[in-house]
Amino acid sequence: MNYMPARAALDAMLADITEAARVPLEGRPQAVARAIGAHVASPALLAGIPTPCCAERYIRHLLHEDAAGGWAVAALVWRPGQMSPVHAHRSWCAVGVHRGVLAESQYRPAAIPVPTGLQLRHPGDTTHGGADPNLIHRLANLGCETAISIHAYGLPYARFCTDLNLILGD
Ligand SMILES: [Fe+2]
Repeated sequence: MNYMPARAALDAMLADITEAARVPLEGRPQAVARAIGAHVASPALLAGIPTPCCAERYIRHLLHEDAAGGWAVAALVWRPGQMSPVHAHRSWCAVGVHRGVLAESQYRPAAIPVPTGLQLRHPGDTTHGGADPNLIHRLANLGCETAISIHAYGLPYARFCTDLNLILGD
């Protein structure tokens, strides 16, 4: 039987993210997404790490913050029916699905953004983007079980709530 110490899987992912977060900004979101994707479907990734859900809304749990690099990684927990607002990002971002299925919808920029597509993201799938007000999306858990995704953003965690999302639409 394989024995893996607590946090070993998470630390392996964080080490790869740390490397990827050093690449030039232009390629950073894709590099970080690749680093997340190499580990995110591992069942051991969050072993021993509390990730409670919240009945009212999706919730973030800080996993790691790189003070020098100005980036942080969080686990987001989505009960069935919970979703993000329609938003763009003010920083680079990279996301991978750990468990459950998330639906990512894209929007065309407009006074009221217009939906243009939707993809289902399964465990191991990733998505990423730069700081771009025209890169508009929404993540939603349309499934019947709790979903957990891993998100890296180019901001300190304390600024996630205030400076990360550019909320669009009504
Ligand atoms: Fe987003």
